[in-house]
Amino acid sequence: MDKMKRLLAVWSDFKSFKDRLTDFIDRPNHTPKRIINEILSISSRKFYFQKALNYPVTLMVEPTTACQLKCPLCPVGLGKLERDTQFMEMKTFKKVIDDVGDYIYKINFNGAGEPLLNKKIVQMIRYGKQKKLYIDVYSNLQLTNKPFLKDIVNSGLDRILISLDGTSKDVYETYRINGQFERIIENIKFLVQEKKRSGSKISIDLQFVIMNQNQHQLKDIEKLSKSLGADNLFIKPAFLFLEKSTSDKVKQFIPENKALSMYKNESSSITWEGRKKRGCMELWLSSVILCDGSVSPCCFDYNGNVIFGNIHETRFKQIWNGKKYRSFRKQMLLDSDKIKLCTSMEGGCPSLHFLATEWITRLN
Ligand SMILES: C[S@@+](CC[C@H](N)C(=O)[O-])C[C@H]1O[C@@H](n2cnc3c(N)ncnc32)[C@H](O)[C@@H]1O
Ligand code: SF4
Ligand code: SF4
Repeated sequence: MDKMKRLLAVWSDFKSFKDRLTDFIDRPNHTPKRIINEILSISSRKFYFQKALNYPVTLMVEPTTACQLKCPLCPVGLGKLERDTQFMEMKTFKKVIDDVGDYIYKINFNGAGEPLLNKKIVQMIRYGKQKKLYIDVYSNLQLTNKPFLKDIVNSGLDRILISLDGTSKDVYETYRINGQFERIIENIKFLVQEKKRSGSKISIDLQFVIMNQNQHQLKDIEKLSKSLGADNLFIKPAFLFLEKSTSDKVKQFIPENKALSMYKNESSSITWEGRKKRGCMELWLSSVILCDGSVSPCCFDYNGNVIFGNIHETRFKQIWNGKKYRSFRKQMLLDSDKIKLCTSMEGGCPSLHFLATEWITRLN
C-alpha cells in the first residue's frame, strides 16, 4: 500500500510537471519579465523560500460579492458570506495591475459572487488587455442585458467559463436556485452568435460540476455543448467549500460513486486519500485580490479571514513578501494541519491531496 502511495506521488509529480510545462509553452503572452518571473517561481517553490523570489504568475480578482443565485453548496448562495456586498472599483483594479501586471500572465475574474454583475468589468478587461494579460471570467451567465453581453464578447476577454450543471430545466435549477435554464441557454447561443458575427477570439467554455442530480447527464452535456457551439467542455467534481458538519448536504449532492467524486464518502465522514507531503504550492504561484483591495492567499478564504494587507494601504509587491505572507508560507511548509483555513472545510482543502489534483487533471 505504501509502495502504491509512493508511486502515485511520483506519477502525480511528473504529470503536474508535464502539464505545467505544456501550459507554460502554450501561453500567448510571453515577455522577458514574465518568463524570468516564472523561472523564479519554480526556484522559490523548489527550495521552499518563505520570501518568494518571484511575483505571482496568476492573480484571481474578485469583482463583486453579489450574486443573483442561491447555489446550496456555495457560501454565497447559502448566505454564509460574512463580508458585505461590495463591487470592486476601477481604481482598485488599476492599482494592482499597474503594480504587478508586467509580471503576471493571467487574471482570473472569479471569487465569492457573480463577476458579471460588476458593470465596470468591461473596462477592467480592456485595461488588463493593454498589459497583454490573458484574462478569463467565471460566470453563471444569468444576465438579461444583451448589449452588455455583446460588450463582453468584444472586450478582448480571452475566455468565459460558464457554469451549466444540467441539460434539463429541473436538473439545472436543482443546484442553480433562482437561475433559469432557458435564460442560460439563450445567453450561450447569443454569445456564440456574437462571436461569429464580430470575429472575436473569445473561448466560450462550459463547466459541468458533477453532482447526484446531474450524474446521469454526462453524455447529454457533451451533446448539448456541441450543439450550442461551445469551444470546450470541462467536467469538474463537486467540492464542499463549507466548514465541517455539512454531511446532510453531502448526502444530497455528492455522488456515492467514487468514480464521480473526489471524496471518500463513508458513513457520513468525508475524507481524502493521498495527502501531499509538501503542502500547497498556491502560495508561491498566485494570490487573490478581494473586491475591497484586501489580499488573501486563495479563493477558499471566502470570508476574508486570512488577510495579508490591503493594496490601498500597501503596494501589492510589498504585501506579497510581507511578514504575514511569509509566516503563512512557513506554516504551510512546517505543518499545514495547523492552518485553520486549509483544514476546516469538509474533508480539508483539495489542494493538499493527490487524488483531487489527479481528478482535476484527468477531467480537464
Ligand atoms: C463560486 S463560483 C463564482 C463564479 C460564478 N458565480 C459561477 O457560479 O460560475 C466559482 C466556480 O465554482 C463553481 N462551483 C460552484 N459550486 C461548486 C461546487 N460545489 N463544487 C465545485 N465547483 C463549484 C462554479 O461553477 C464556478 O465555476
Ligand atoms: S452562482 Fe456562483 S457565486 Fe452565485 S451562489 Fe452559485 S456558485 Fe455561488
Ligand atoms: S486553503 Fe487550500 S489552496 Fe488555500 S492555502 Fe490552504 S491548502 Fe492552499
